[in-house]
Amino acid sequence: MSTDARTGPAPVPTGPLSQIDYSERIPNNVNLNQDRRLQRALEGWQPKFLDWWKQLGPALPTKDVYLRTAIAVGRDGWAHFDHVPMEEYRWGIFLAERNPDRVVAFGKHKGEPAWQEVPGEHRADLMRLIVVQGDTEPASVEQQRILGETAPSIYDLRNLFQVNVEEGRHLWAMVYLLHAYFGREGREEAEQLLKRNSGDLDSPRILGAFNEATTDWLQFFMFTYFTDRDGKYQLGTLKESAFDPLARTCEFMLKEEAHHMFVGTTGVQRVVERTAEVMNEHGTSDTFEHGAIPLDVIQKYLNFQYSVSMDLFGSEQSTNAGNYYSSGVKGRWLETRRKDDHVLLDDTRQMNYVEDGEIRTKTVPMLSALNLDLRDEYVADCANGVRRWNQALEDAGLTERLILPHEGFNRRVGVYAAHHVSPTGEVLDDDAWAAAVDGWLPSEADRQAVAALMVPEYEYGKFAGWITPPQAGINEQPVEFDYVHLAGEGLD
Ligand SMILES: [Fe+2]
Ligand SMILES: [Fe+2]
Repeated sequence: MSTDARTGPAPVPTGPLSQIDYSERIPNNVNLNQDRRLQRALEGWQPKFLDWWKQLGPALPTKDVYLRTAIAVGRDGWAHFDHVPMEEYRWGIFLAERNPDRVVAFGKHKGEPAWQEVPGEHRADLMRLIVVQGDTEPASVEQQRILGETAPSIYDLRNLFQVNVEEGRHLWAMVYLLHAYFGREGREEAEQLLKRNSGDLDSPRILGAFNEATTDWLQFFMFTYFTDRDGKYQLGTLKESAFDPLARTCEFMLKEEAHHMFVGTTGVQRVVERTAEVMNEHGTSDTFEHGAIPLDVIQKYLNFQYSVSMDLFGSEQSTNAGNYYSSGVKGRWLETRRKDDHVLLDDTRQMNYVEDGEIRTKTVPMLSALNLDLRDEYVADCANGVRRWNQALEDAGLTERLILPHEGFNRRVGVYAAHHVSPTGEVLDDDAWAAAVDGWLPSEADRQAVAALMVPEYEYGKFAGWITPPQAGINEQPVEFDYVHLAGEGLD
C-alpha cells in the first residue's frame, strides 16, 4: 500500500509561508488544519510528548523562562522572546519555505524535481534516517535534565532551557514527518521516540554519545560545542535530501541549532578565560584549589566529547552512505557549492587506517567514504573553536594551549575501533594505553573535583567562580536580566 493510501496526501503548504499559525493547538506553517486525520494523530501524540517533558525534561522547578519562539521562517526576525512557563512553550511544526523550482542536486536523480512524496523504494531508508535523527533530540534533553540544579548563573540557566525546548521542537519536526509521510509505521516510530530513554539499560537511545550522562556544566558546554555540532552536520546532509519536506524541516532546524553551538563555543571560552585569570593570579596550573577548572582537565573533557562525537559519523567506509547519496536521500555538506559532478562514480580519496601498529593511508572510492567526507568538514569546523579558546590563553599571556586530539583517539566506531591511539596519533598497545589513559580522559577524581565546583548561582547578574560572565546578554537584554524566575519566586 502506498503512503497516500494509508494517510492521504501530506498537506502541501500554500499561501504566504513566512507566518506561523499560533491559533492552532499545534502551531504550524504547514496548513495542518486542512488535514484532519493528520492533525488528530499529532494532537494524540501531543499529550504523550508533554508527559515525557514533565518526567524527563528539566528537573529544576521554574515559574517562567525568557525563551525565544519561532514566529516566522523567513531570514529576518524569525523569533519572538518572552517569559513563558516552559511547559506552555509553543512547540510546533515549522518548515523553511518551499522553493517550487527545487531539483535534486546529486546522485542518480540529479536534475529531477525534488520529491514531495516518499518514493516507495526509498521509504525504509528515509524513515530510518528520520528516526535516528529524531532519537537524538529528546535524548539530549534527558541527558541535561539535572543541570539546572547547578547552573553557574541565571543567564546560563536560561540558555540551557532554550536549548532544551528547541531540542524538544526538533523532536516535533521529525515526528511531523513520520506522521505525515510514513503511515502507521511512522506513528509507531513516533511513539518509540518517547519510549527509548538516554542511558536506559533495556531501551537506550540509538547512538552511543546520547547515552552518556552529562554530569556537569563543563561537559554540557563541550556537548553543545562538539555533539550539537555533529547534529549541525547531519542536518546539513539531510537539508540536501531529494525528499523536499525533510530538506525544508532541516533547513529551519539549522537556524535554531546555531544558538546551541554559540552556547558551547562561548561556554568553553568563558571557562578557559576564568582558568587563565586564576593561573595568572596564583601562578599555578593547579587551579582547583582556587576554584577554577585546570586546563589539563578542560583538555580531558574536550578529548572525551570530541572522540564520542566523532563516533557519531559512523564507519569511514560505508556502503549505506554511498547508497543514500546515489539514491538522493542524503547529500554532502554544502552539496550545491561543491565543484564536482555530484555523482562521484569515478572519484577517489585518501583515508587512514591502522596496519602493523602504524597509521597508513590508502586510496578508496569517494562514494564509499562519504561519512569520512562529512567528518572531515566537522573536524575543520571544530578546530575553529579551539583556535578561539587558544586566543584567550594567548591574550592572557599564557603559553599553554588546547588541542583537538588525533582522529583515532578513543574511538569505538570505524577503522580505529580495535586500536589504541594517543591524542598525538601514536598507536599504543594495551599496557601503554592503560598506563596513560587517566592523563587523557577525565578520571572519576577529575569529574568529582569539577562537580565540587558546580554550586548554583541564582542571583541575577552573578556568576559562579569557575566561569567569567558573558560579553553580552540575550536578545540585547543586560547580563543581569531576570532571564529565569524560579518556582516560588515572587510569592512573598
Ligand atoms: Fe537538535
Ligand atoms: Fe542542538
